[in-house]
Amino acid sequence: MESSVEVSELFITPLWRVNCRDEFKKSLSSYVQLINKLRKDGEGDEGDNRSSRNGWRLDDVNLKDDFKSVTDEIIYGLSSILADEKVFNSSKTYDYRIESWINLTNKGGFNAVHNHGLWSISGVLYIKCPKDSGRLLIRDPRPAVYYHKLLQQAGEEIVIEPKEGLIVFFPGFLEHSVELNKSRQDRISIAFNISLTPK
Ligand SMILES: [Fe+2]
Repeated sequence: MESSVEVSELFITPLWRVNCRDEFKKSLSSYVQLINKLRKDGEGDEGDNRSSRNGWRLDDVNLKDDFKSVTDEIIYGLSSILADEKVFNSSKTYDYRIESWINLTNKGGFNAVHNHGLWSISGVLYIKCPKDSGRLLIRDPRPAVYYHKLLQQAGEEIVIEPKEGLIVFFPGFLEHSVELNKSRQDRISIAFNISLTPK
């Protein structure tokens, strides 16, 4: 009699890409204008800030009326991923809390490796990302896998190509970074953290 093999896939880590709705995508250029105006008016913080190097950051986007449709789009995306039954228990519902901020990266800027600690889900909505302005790099959070490459993807850096109107969601514990902005223009995204609590 032949032996039988049973495989369990342990510690699966999801990452979701959600395309914003067309109506929202039409508003991306107006957000670029608004964000540039806020920066010009002296709002936010210039320079190095947390993981950001050579950029500009504005906090509390989720509290600003002018950015309500950005927050709505992120929450709409969240509702799509919560329907993913491979990851979430469909019989559960969740309360959520969100915080979000603008990341503007100047030419020559980047984001150092970091994670978002205890937040359930973190992610980014791309507002403006010219060619070569920096890809999102996701690192395997299990330190030991970097010493043995037997498993597929073990120790690999996963590359996510940014796209205007794309939202990327991932667990907040994942380490990640953003490459150097080698384009001649700024790169603009809205980053966010979401805390999920089962009701
Ligand atoms: Fe981050």
